[in-house]
Amino acid sequence: MSDVHAVEIDPSAPKSVLYRDLGASLASLLEGESDALANLANASALLSQALPRINWCGFYLLRGEELVLGPFQGKPACVRIAMGKGVCGTAAARRETLLVPDVNAFPGHIACDADSRSEIVVPIVAAGQLRGVLDIDSPEPARFDAADREGLERFVSTLVPLVRWSALIA
Ligand code: SME
Repeated sequence: MSDVHAVEIDPSAPKSVLYRDLGASLASLLEGESDALANLANASALLSQALPRINWCGFYLLRGEELVLGPFQGKPACVRIAMGKGVCGTAAARRETLLVPDVNAFPGHIACDADSRSEIVVPIVAAGQLRGVLDIDSPEPARFDAADREGLERFVSTLVPLVRWSALIA
């Protein structure tokens, strides 16, 4: 049996290669598994293993009118974020990816890990419904660029059909 935890991704590869391999790894890691929580947990672990120079990555899930912390890798984080608040709540409300080169310059940024200097948040929309966001932080200023945006939006597109989002609503 193959080792399901093996991540055959070279974190030093060019971003185009890295994100292509990440998508393939995600699809194979989640294949045949229908447990939504397990799949998000593995997706966050995969990102954490594959992406260099990050200190936090994970999911906030839409529960009612607010975002609630989901599976992640990193330091303990704030649990509830109102729609429209912080980078996560703003990306969710706008349903658009936010790339923040300097978190200290983002009005209303919510500091969960004092090491974070830059951040990217990708909204998760499945069948027209907002389900949450993918949030990734880096200790390096301006760590994320257009290639990360494109790669992570593709990662979320691959993830969306592999997760039963309705099972995650408390
Ligand atoms: N910085 C985020 C909060 C979540 S932590 O980064 C994990 C925000 O401003 O929404």
